[in-house]
Amino acid sequence: MTVLIAYASALGSTREMAQHMAYRMAGALGEVECRSVEDVEALSRYEAVVVGSAVHNQAWLPPALLFFKHHARELAGRPVWAFSVGMADALPQPIRRRGAALQQKRLAEALIKEVPLRGHKLFSGVYQAGQMPAPLRVLFRLTGGRFGDLRDWAAVDEWADQITAQLAKPASSASSGSITG
Ligand SMILES: Cc1cc2nc3c(=O)[nH]c(=O)nc-3n(C[C@H](O)[C@H](O)[C@H](O)COP(=O)(O)O)c2cc1C
Repeated sequence: MTVLIAYASALGSTREMAQHMAYRMAGALGEVECRSVEDVEALSRYEAVVVGSAVHNQAWLPPALLFFKHHARELAGRPVWAFSVGMADALPQPIRRRGAALQQKRLAEALIKEVPLRGHKLFSGVYQAGQMPAPLRVLFRLTGGRFGDLRDWAAVDEWADQITAQLAKPASSASSGSITG
């Protein structure tokens, strides 16, 4: 089985997560290719696809959205999982969980308009103080916001293992379900 993990990353944290998943999944599934969405021309040789993007301004990066639209028909014929990398865990604690749930729902709804998905997962990435406009930084910190590498590698491993388990099942018993939002 050849699996594609395609990513769009502005500053590298999403790329590193995609590479980590590819390495982990390759152990069980054989060939797993990890490429930037801009380096993928066709999907014909892939049996399953995982697509991930950094989130900017509450949406996927334009190259990742373009990838989804451009390959929508081919993606619809394969099992597809999507992941988004944002900064929910940087938010002040009282609104962190609700912020993540709302963002996860909104992003999944936008994506499944283009392609049926087996699953969508929101992760937190790397959010440094320099990425926020200076006047907002002090206020953000004062209200409980935080900066740093917020990646939860155990959660990434768990999600990659769930996908691996589904793909490793014989075709007849593999779930063909898709998420609805
Ligand atoms: C210009 C800019 C805008 C961002 N907008 C959002 C956003 O709307 N929602 C969010 O959750 N995270 C947002 N982030 C945080 C990034 O998604 C996060 O830093 C992520 O790890 C970036 O991934 P990358 O390193 O692969 O580019 C933004 C970051 C930058 C630099």
